Amino acid sequence: MKTNPGQGRFNRWAPSYDRSILQRLMFEPVHEAVLSAFRASSAPPHDVLDVGCGTGRLLETAAGRWDGVRFTGVDASEEMVEEARRKHEGDARFVFKQGDASALPVESDSFDAVFSTMSFHHWRDQAAGICEVARVLRPGGFFVLADIDVPFMFFLRPLLRWTGHANFQGPKDIPRLLEQADLAVVTRRRFWALLRTQLFLARKGVPIARL
Ligand SMILES: C[S@@+](CC[C@H](N)C(=O)[O-])C[C@H]1O[C@@H](n2cnc3c(N)ncnc32)[C@H](O)[C@@H]1O
Repeated sequence: MKTNPGQGRFNRWAPSYDRSILQRLMFEPVHEAVLSAFRASSAPPHDVLDVGCGTGRLLETAAGRWDGVRFTGVDASEEMVEEARRKHEGDARFVFKQGDASALPVESDSFDAVFSTMSFHHWRDQAAGICEVARVLRPGGFFVLADIDVPFMFFLRPLLRWTGHANFQGPKDIPRLLEQADLAVVTRRRFWALLRTQLFLARKGVPIARL
């Protein structure tokens, strides 16, 4: 497994993460977009996984809307996971595990919804991470992925790679990775949440739809 050298930054951010101004400006609008994309395509889920869950805020919002759901969060940062566990101690609906997207510490075919928000560009092995999402989804389950959509990727990508902490993908790369893992892209949209953001909703075990 390729490890992520940026984890120190997330460990340091964890104690103040929920108070960041970015919650209101960026993360909350992205969480809303992910939940509404899922709601438009599916009945309420039973088992939800958030990959790169941070302190568990997307799952908290989802828990306010869906009853009787089990929420699992996985994050590579021990401190983010610790913070998420501390907030939800004694609440049996939530489980948080430390782990990397490329080796998810959960059973195969065990979720009907997998979400990931603003985390994907940090994954060192994105193809492996998406294969893991496909492994843990039940047939017919949905993956909703939202991540920063960097404009002028052709020019900026070498610069971003040179900075060494980001693995941004262009609009054609993510559908390719999803389809390679047999996740059919059903919906795609772009919106602004402080930064331009791309959202993909893909489904396991249905014929591949063309964008
Ligand atoms: C910007 S935060 C977003 C957190 C959360 N998804 C949200 O929307 O508030 C990115 C998170 O992705 C996690 N992360 C980065 N690389 C990861 C990987 N390879 N596997 C799992 N989590 C990862 C980081 O530890 C961090 O908590």
